Amino acid sequence: MVDERARLEIARLGEGRIDSPLSALLRRQGTTWHYVDEADRVLLEDTVALVAARGVPVAELPGFEPGGPRSKIYFDPSKTRVGIVTCGGLCPGLNDVIRALVLELTNHYGVRRIVGFRNGYQGMTARYGRPVVDLDPDAVAGINEYGGTILGTSRGNQDPDEIVDCLEQLSINVLFVIGGDGSMRGALRIAETVAERGLRIAVVGVPKTIDNDIPYIERSFGFQTAFGKATEAIRAAHVEATAFPNGIGLVQLMGRHSGFIACYAALANNDADYVLIPEVPFALDGPGGFLEHLRRRVVDRGHAMVVVAEGAGQEYLTANGRDASGNVRLEDFGRYLRGRIAEHFAAAGVEANLKYIDPSYTIRSVPADPYDSVYCIRLAHAAAHAAMAGRTEMVVGRWRGRFVHVPIALAISSRNLVDPDGDLWLSVLEATGQPPVFA
Ligand code: F6P
Repeated sequence: MVDERARLEIARLGEGRIDSPLSALLRRQGTTWHYVDEADRVLLEDTVALVAARGVPVAELPGFEPGGPRSKIYFDPSKTRVGIVTCGGLCPGLNDVIRALVLELTNHYGVRRIVGFRNGYQGMTARYGRPVVDLDPDAVAGINEYGGTILGTSRGNQDPDEIVDCLEQLSINVLFVIGGDGSMRGALRIAETVAERGLRIAVVGVPKTIDNDIPYIERSFGFQTAFGKATEAIRAAHVEATAFPNGIGLVQLMGRHSGFIACYAALANNDADYVLIPEVPFALDGPGGFLEHLRRRVVDRGHAMVVVAEGAGQEYLTANGRDASGNVRLEDFGRYLRGRIAEHFAAAGVEANLKYIDPSYTIRSVPADPYDSVYCIRLAHAAAHAAMAGRTEMVVGRWRGRFVHVPIALAISSRNLVDPDGDLWLSVLEATGQPPVFA
């Protein structure tokens, strides 16, 4: 039998004996979800069955239920009624998901009645008086060409009892919720109310967030499109910064708690000299602070490019209440930083030509790029298969490159963050050359 471990061994010229210039960046790396220690190994197999086939005892290993079609389904398609709702902030690909759900359910399962609820959970609550939208292949033709959602959206949850009343009155058997963590909290309450009433209504989510902050879902749909769009702002700011003496480009990007958009957009351009994200605290003032480091760099190199995630540096500002989804309303750190940079350079008597760009909603209101469109279709197919097979209280996800079923409770149990000790942030430090800590 072939020794697979031996076949995977990498040849070495010898032991490393010289201190690496990068060692200062490796603060306390060890194996985490985001980083694999050198002494560890990335497993070749990623399913329990494949590992078991090697004769390794794996019964105790945790694993996700795989997504995909089942040969036996729970719902009789000819009698199944489906509802679709899109909730929360916009995200590229919402229309792709709606269309793919409708086409898969109609063309492959033979479902005959699909309705869309208008403006998120409001459309499922009687007092808003919003009629449902009938969805069939004609109604969704070409919608993937457009950003936004044909169903409209809204922030905030509604009374789950009223929502389940609505589902009962419409004889809905399957509800698809396309939304972020707040909307999935609502979906969980709907599923629990369904269970309390002894109903058999499947509640299946397709997780949506441009911030890529839903755990157990390696990458959320729309994220790639959003950070791709964000690169245009960085490119523009960099062109401006390099054209003027002591030019500074400052771009603020969405990312309430997670700096993934800022990190990926900055890496894509590879022109950023600084990336500031909520997960990595930084000092602004003092000799080791960001402002002085920036001043020195501009004096030395003639320009600098700074990318900030909107959730960064909130400790320098005062909190501003919460929105309808329960999210803390962020203060505008980008504008604050622009003011502080101008003050710092003026106080040091150094000219600064700062160009500030906040592309804001423009990165999430666009249609999905081709990669995200493919991903949306495949997520929608997985969601349709799961629901028709009678799965509920779950969202579809992608883990280690495979489509999986994730319990809603798990998907809302934590937040996916950029790990300051992980390999993504290390890539940012390598690409920007910024110090690991501003203190
Ligand atoms: O949650 C996704 C997100 O894009 C955040 O990055 C951003 O802070 C927020 O939505 C803004 O959305 P809205 O203005 O609709 O609340």
